[in-house]
Amino acid sequence: MAKTKTVWHCNECGHSEPKWAGQCPSCKEWNSFHEEMHFEARFESQLKLPAAPIRLTEVSEEETPRMQTHIKEFDRLLGGGLMQGSLSLVGGEPGIGKSTLLMQVSNAIARQGLVVLYVCGEESVSQTSQRARRLGISSENLLLLSETNFSLIKKQVEKVKPDLVIVDSIQIIYKSELSSAPGSVTQVRETATELMHLAKQNDISILLIGHVTKSGEIAGPRVLEHLVDTVLYFEGDRQHNYRLMRVVKNRFGSTDEIAVFQMGEGGLKEIPNPSELFLEERMKGNAGSVIIPTVEGSRPILIEVQALVTDTAYSTPSRRCAGLDSNRLALLLAVMEKRVGYQLHNRDVFVSVAGGMKITEPAIDLGVVLAVASSLMNLTVDPETIVIGEVGLGGEIRSVPRLEERLKEAVHMGFKKALIPKKGYLEHKQIETVGMERVEEAIRAVFN
Ligand code: TYD
Ligand code: MG
Repeated sequence: MAKTKTVWHCNECGHSEPKWAGQCPSCKEWNSFHEEMHFEARFESQLKLPAAPIRLTEVSEEETPRMQTHIKEFDRLLGGGLMQGSLSLVGGEPGIGKSTLLMQVSNAIARQGLVVLYVCGEESVSQTSQRARRLGISSENLLLLSETNFSLIKKQVEKVKPDLVIVDSIQIIYKSELSSAPGSVTQVRETATELMHLAKQNDISILLIGHVTKSGEIAGPRVLEHLVDTVLYFEGDRQHNYRLMRVVKNRFGSTDEIAVFQMGEGGLKEIPNPSELFLEERMKGNAGSVIIPTVEGSRPILIEVQALVTDTAYSTPSRRCAGLDSNRLALLLAVMEKRVGYQLHNRDVFVSVAGGMKITEPAIDLGVVLAVASSLMNLTVDPETIVIGEVGLGGEIRSVPRLEERLKEAVHMGFKKALIPKKGYLEHKQIETVGMERVEEAIRAVFN
């Protein structure tokens, strides 16, 4: 008989404690602890790993085949297609388009003559088929299964022997042996582990959908990150109709890749050239606007950073930003005050990355500084100039990685001039590059 005891799990990161705690010591989330029964010593009988070690040199060199979806951006994210026998996780907020995308992926695979089993635990078969019809999907090889009990799903998988299984969503699947509710950390982890075994033993690919919720009622997909082979997150706010998909873990490819999709009538459409999308609504000649090439994964994207500087009405000025780190903004404003001599302590500063992208790399520093200076002085930055550079505390402009690719994208989008760091200076045939050493120098060069 398995021994049971009570433990408290954090729904955000899965950390467990013997007692309740208000704040998770691991991920610092508040109010995320939920009580669950914990079963010990159950696993031994289930493990079916090869008993003897194999010499590395004796392992066959053949690469595991990949299933291509021919949704190019999705394949690229995965590193060239879905690896056979892999377990992947697609996370994102409800309503962002996870089911839509995976329905389109299922169709793309089924059209190649492979069998896809779509486990729609969240919606009924008729709801799912309605969605499929709306997307113009009808394939003989696409099978729908409305089931949430894991052992019944497993039976079907073993009977149907599909090439790809979609589980929509992992938070609704449960094992009846466990006493905790579907969506709890224990259930989510246990069912995902079982699905992992199912994928490896039968050599089928499984894609899990995981909801990211703020309420903390159900365990988030982060609980599974260590377990699965690939983790993809869907982001982007629902106000904008495009979505970013980001790879945060990939055992068979590189991480930090992103792909951009646009949600429309016929489902999600891939956007092969995101720069065009992000610069589409730009008003040329606005003060406070600067174009910056940022690199996400292997691809450079041009984005517009906008700043607005106004006199403050309160004793403490307000500093707000969207799409970049607020600490980074505070640091850049301090550099502008101290090194360039701007007075910002009595000004409200708002900075945002147009279009809702989130940028974490410091290569956008100089662009942010110039956008703030531009709004402060009400002088425009030449709309055909792009700006690249990290800014140090001393006001020095530091080199950035992958300068050449950034310049190439700027050329592609028709820009004529680039302010770049002097360190690592590059000449380019199709775009005038100006090397900058200090922030003051860049400000002079831009606003003269
Ligand atoms: P969905 O895939 O159901 O989201 P998730 O599975 O992540 O919860 O997508 C939901 C949203 O997408 C919904 O608000 C409607 C919208 N949508 C479209 O705009 N066009 C479409 O063709 C489809 C199928 C959905
Ligand atoms: Mg859904």
